[in-house]
Amino acid sequence: MKRVAILTRDGAGVNACIRSVTRALIAKGIEPIGVMRGYDGLIDNDLTVFTRRSVSNIIGLGGTILKTSRALRFKTEDGQRKALETIKKNDIDGLIIIGGNGSLTGAHVLAEKYNITVIGIPATIDNDINGIDGTIGSDTAINVAMDAVDKIRDTASSLERIFVVEVMGRDCGYIASQVAIAGGCEDFNITTLCEEISWGNCQGKLSWIIITAEGKAKAADIAKQINQITGLETRELVLGHIQRGGAPTAKDRILAARLGIAAVDAIVAGKSDICVGIKDDIIIEVPLAIATMPKKWDVELYYKISKMLN
Ligand code: F6P
Repeated sequence: MKRVAILTRDGAGVNACIRSVTRALIAKGIEPIGVMRGYDGLIDNDLTVFTRRSVSNIIGLGGTILKTSRALRFKTEDGQRKALETIKKNDIDGLIIIGGNGSLTGAHVLAEKYNITVIGIPATIDNDINGIDGTIGSDTAINVAMDAVDKIRDTASSLERIFVVEVMGRDCGYIASQVAIAGGCEDFNITTLCEEISWGNCQGKLSWIIITAEGKAKAADIAKQINQITGLETRELVLGHIQRGGAPTAKDRILAARLGIAAVDAIVAGKSDICVGIKDDIIIEVPLAIATMPKKWDVELYYKISKMLN
C-alpha cells in the first residue's frame, strides 16, 4: 500500500481526525492524499498531497481543511464512474472516509460495487452510526447546545418566560435527549407538556426551557401551540449549524485521534468495507452495511430521566 486518500464531511473533530490519519499513514510509509470538497473532489480529480506539516495546528479547528460538499453527483452512475477514474489515475490504493451516514453510504458503494479498499470513520453530530458508542463531533455539539441553554436560562428565569430551543437532528433526537438532561430542560412531548406547564405554574415554576429536535417538531410551531393552549408568553430559538462548528471538545479530539490510527491499522491489515468505532472503550470494526443501518437507542431512558428531574 503506497497511497491512501482521505475524504471528509465537516464537523468539530474532523480536522483532528485528518491529522491523526495523515500522521499514522506517514508513520507506516504511506503517502496521504487529501481529497478536496468531499465526493465532488473525487469526481473532479481535485486532490492534494499531504505531508506531516500539512496538518500542523489544525487539531482545534472546526470544519474540514479539505472542504466538503453534499455530493449529489456521486449518487449517479456517471459521478461514480468519474470518481473511479480519479482513484485509478492517481494510483490510490485505498480511501479513508470520515463522515456521517451519507459519507459512509458512499464509502460502502465504492467498496461493494467497485471493489475499492475503503475504511470509514464515523463523524457526525447526530451519533446515529449503528453498532458503535460515539461519533466524532457529537460531544462538541451537545456542549455547544448546552452552553446556549445555560445562557437562555438567565433570561428565562429573570423574565419568567417559556423558551423552546430547537437543536439539530433531522432523523435522530440524540442531541435533544442529551441536552435535555445536561441543560436541565424538558424533552419535548406536546401531549403532556401543556398540562405540565399549567400545573407547574400553579406550583411556582414560572420559567421553562423546552428542547426539540429539528426532525421531530419545529420550535416555532411548538411555541405557538404552547402560547395558544396556556396563554403564556413563549419564545423560540433555532440553534442550527453553530452546533456543527467550532473547536472540538477534548473528548472529540481524543476519539478522532484513536479512530484515525485505528483506520490506518485496518487499511494496512487489508480490511475494507468497514467502519472503525469504539464500543465499551475498545476499538471495534463494523461492516459499513451495518453501520449505515438505522441505530436503535433507548430514547425512553433519557426521556424518563429529564421528566423525573425537571
Ligand atoms: O447529519 C448531520 C446534520 O447536522 C443533521 O443533524 C442536520 O439535519 C443536517 O446534518 C444538516 O445538513 P445540512 O448542513 O446539509 O443542511
